[in-house]
Amino acid sequence: MCGIVGYIGNNNCVPILIEGLKRLEYRGYDSAGIGIIDKNVSIIEKYKGKVSILEDNVYKKKLSATLGIGHTRWATHGEPNKINAHPHQNNDKDLFLIHNGIIENYQILKELLAKKGYKFYSQTDTEVLANLIDFHFKKTKDLFEGVRVALNEVEGAYGIAVISKKEPDKIVVAKKGSPLVIGVGRNENYIASDVNALIAHTSRVVYLEDDEVALITKDGFKARTIANHKLDKTIEEITVSADEITKGGYQHYMLKEIMEQPESVRNSLRGRLLEKEGISKLGGLQGFEDRIAQSDRIIISACGTSWHAALVGEYMIEEYAGIPVEVEYASEFRYRNPIINPNDTIFFISQSGETADTLAALKEAKKKGALVLGICNVVGSSIARASEAGVYIHAGPEIGVASTKAFTAQLSVLALITILLARKRRMSHMDGRKLVKEMDLIPDKIAKILTLNKKIEKLAEKFVNATNFLYLGRGYNFPVALEGALKLKEISYIHAEGYPAAEMKHGPIALIDENMPVVFIAPLDAVHEKVLSNIQEVKARKGKVIVIANELDKKVDKMADHVIKIPSTCPLLAPILNVIPLQLLAYHIAVKKGLNVDQPRNLAKSVTVE
Ligand code: F6R
Repeated sequence: MCGIVGYIGNNNCVPILIEGLKRLEYRGYDSAGIGIIDKNVSIIEKYKGKVSILEDNVYKKKLSATLGIGHTRWATHGEPNKINAHPHQNNDKDLFLIHNGIIENYQILKELLAKKGYKFYSQTDTEVLANLIDFHFKKTKDLFEGVRVALNEVEGAYGIAVISKKEPDKIVVAKKGSPLVIGVGRNENYIASDVNALIAHTSRVVYLEDDEVALITKDGFKARTIANHKLDKTIEEITVSADEITKGGYQHYMLKEIMEQPESVRNSLRGRLLEKEGISKLGGLQGFEDRIAQSDRIIISACGTSWHAALVGEYMIEEYAGIPVEVEYASEFRYRNPIINPNDTIFFISQSGETADTLAALKEAKKKGALVLGICNVVGSSIARASEAGVYIHAGPEIGVASTKAFTAQLSVLALITILLARKRRMSHMDGRKLVKEMDLIPDKIAKILTLNKKIEKLAEKFVNATNFLYLGRGYNFPVALEGALKLKEISYIHAEGYPAAEMKHGPIALIDENMPVVFIAPLDAVHEKVLSNIQEVKARKGKVIVIANELDKKVDKMADHVIKIPSTCPLLAPILNVIPLQLLAYHIAVKKGLNVDQPRNLAKSVTVE
């Protein structure tokens, strides 16, 4: 979603803002802008399109200032154009505001301000907020107070940064529902919506919580709640390095992240498997293990790819630990008044840890008294902090909009949780040891699958002009089919659907003809023969069959048009391997179609609005 950066210090803020915006571009990118103030000069530059367009223009103009804020926008109110881009200004044009989120009562506020003589030039809720702050700033004669008082009238979600020509030695920031981080430097300070924009400058950060507002000068910061209570915020150290967020020689972040999976899965398992005991150890759940194992029910809630991981988790935990599991879209859960009992455990899975629907569902579950646990990638993210306990997946920064390495790391962590619970309930020591041993082999097996990259690239050539795709799998591999279809549609814009293979005959079979590619995920497992029958059904209707199969599977060769042979593993871990060829297939099809796979149209990496 939108990205926010800001700088105050002794250096020229313009390159710092541009660099920060580039690092945030993956979050949202239909327009970008900066607002800078130096002595008596205040300048806004904003453009439709990518940060590079803004960059070319500000460098041509040789702009310079020691205070500034910048924004990449992903449109919510009003189409992506120069007028609707951020920063927005008050009517006097001496106050700049950037905003991530949605002001829900902006129409009412707009009418009230219009009655007081304010004019509006854009369709955005942000311009309304800029003028509301202006109104209170004029009354209180203090920027910090003006922002704080204004926010008491605002309903909705926001991460904001405000600067004013009248007080050119400060940035005021506030947060509710959208992330905001202060980066602490020496005689200079930074703000951002994501630590990725800060790590080139500092590793010392302060996370704002909801309903907090902070005043930042070049020498320090102070924070209060919006209700005006004093706060003592602590500075935390972040461990992500600047190297981790470069493309590392790959053409796209997505390919780099696919290729990193042997390492990212290894990192998600590191130190968490005890082979001799046949158990897993998850520090983040310490003290909660028994309570989770004794839960009457586990609910897993998430969105998108993380929701697909949750579905695999359901199969894993029910089969091995024998605890009933329900999986629910966070966006549905939050508005459904779900039945939650005190003896339920609810996991929320989120790569970014900032997804608005997942965060809202978590808060709802917490209110209802369940044990609320997070499975997140981004350390210190809102969902991680709002959870009572949880597990980091340690996949490292994921920049490509299409989630890849986070998915396999989420599956790895769900397998670790499964072992933990199963061994406390009904899994024998011997079975635990076998599973732990098998998990240890997964990173090397992923590395082996990645050597098929060229072969999959060649295969992709044949399907560049396809307009539809079906993905079919059973059991653990039904969610893999969903994930394969999602990967393809989000980056190649080819319509794709995932189904449980046996469901095909209840409807989708009507779609099959010689133009329909059908991808089967068919490892050698208990339902293998059944899936082979489903392949025959597609072949009988002249569909083009691509099969992800195991190396030892000989039968499949005669049936399929194309086979990708990968190593086998136990059914519970198979999704981690089976999804890799599907990620590569989607990637290569999208590249061959000439599309921007890292920044697909209409999508944002971190969906911080409803
Ligand atoms: C798909 C994708 C999205 C996210 C979803 C949830 O490739 O990236 O479907 O999985 O928006 O995001 P997180 O996991 O950050 O909560």
